[in-house]
Amino acid sequence: MPPTTLAAALDDVEARLKEAAIEDPRFESRVLVARAVGLSVGEVLFYSRRPISPAEASQIARYTEERSKRRPVSHIFGEKEFWSLTFEVTPDVLTPRPDTETLVEAALELIPDRDRTLSVLDLGVGSGCILISLLTELPQAYGVGVDIDFDACLVARRNAVRLGLDNRSAIIQGDWISAIGGKFDLVLSNPPYIPIGEIETLEPEVRDYEPRLALSGGRDGLDCYKRILTGVGTVIRPGGSLLLEVGSGQAPLVSAMARQNPLFRVKTTTDLGKVERCVLATVIDH
Ligand SMILES: C[S@@+](CC[C@H](N)C(=O)[O-])C[C@H]1O[C@@H](n2cnc3c(N)ncnc32)[C@H](O)[C@@H]1O
Repeated sequence: MPPTTLAAALDDVEARLKEAAIEDPRFESRVLVARAVGLSVGEVLFYSRRPISPAEASQIARYTEERSKRRPVSHIFGEKEFWSLTFEVTPDVLTPRPDTETLVEAALELIPDRDRTLSVLDLGVGSGCILISLLTELPQAYGVGVDIDFDACLVARRNAVRLGLDNRSAIIQGDWISAIGGKFDLVLSNPPYIPIGEIETLEPEVRDYEPRLALSGGRDGLDCYKRILTGVGTVIRPGGSLLLEVGSGQAPLVSAMARQNPLFRVKTTTDLGKVERCVLATVIDH
C-alpha cells in the first residue's frame, strides 16, 4: 500500500534509504518528499498529516528508487545549489561541492574593489560553478571557461544563460591553456585530483556516477597540477593570481610545484574544516 500522508511517506522513504546504506536517511527522506510534493522541508514537517495524491506518491516512489541505487540527489533533481545559485547538473559534470566555495571566497578576497573591470579564466569549468559565481559577484568582470569535455562545455554554457551571465562569459572546449590567448587577472582551477587507485574506494555516488574525467588525477593525483603549472604563467597578468583547489594533503606538494616558477609568490588558504584547500600563486608585478 503506498503511503497516504506526508508523515507516512517520510517514514517509508527513510526506511528504504536506510536499507540502501544512505548516510543520513532522515534528512534525505525529507528532501526527496519535499521536492516530490512541491513543498519546502519545513512545510512537509509542519503539514505532516496532509494527504498525498496518487501522482505525488508515484513521484516519491520514483525518487526513492533512484536514490536507493545511490544515484546522487543532484542527478535525480538535475540541479545543485552552489554559492546560493542553482546550477544545472548532468552526468557530464562534477556536482559542485561546498569545498569549492573556498576557491571563490579566496578569489574575492583578492579583489577589494568589486566594481573593477577584470578578466577571469576557469580551467576545467565543468558545470561553470566557479566562473559563474565569481561573475555574479564582480559585475564588471568577464570570463572564459575551458573544458576538454564538449558536453561539460554545453552544461556550463546553459548555466551561464540560465543565470544571466552569457553576455560576460565564453565557454571553450580545450586542453587546459592550449586554446587560450591573452592574459587574465584571475586564473582558477579545480582540476581532477583523485589518485586513480583511490577511485574504486569512493562512495558509489561519486565512483559510479561522477565523470571519470572530472575525478582522475593520474597515479599520484597530481598530473593535472603539473600540466596546468607548466605554462600557466603566460596567461596571467603581472599582479594577477592563480588559484588551485587541492585535495586533502596535497597543498604542500602543489605549493612546492608552484614555487618552482620564480615569478610566483605562493601561499595556501584553508576551508571551514581547516583543510588547506586552495593554493594561491600571485605573479610578482615588477
Ligand atoms: C574536478 S572537475 C571541476 C569542475 C568544476 N570546475 C567544479 O569545480 O565543480 C574538473 C574538470 O576538468 C575537466 N578536465 C579534465 N581534463 C582536462 C583538460 N585536459 N583540459 C581541460 N579540462 C579538463 C573535466 O572535464 C572536469 O569538468
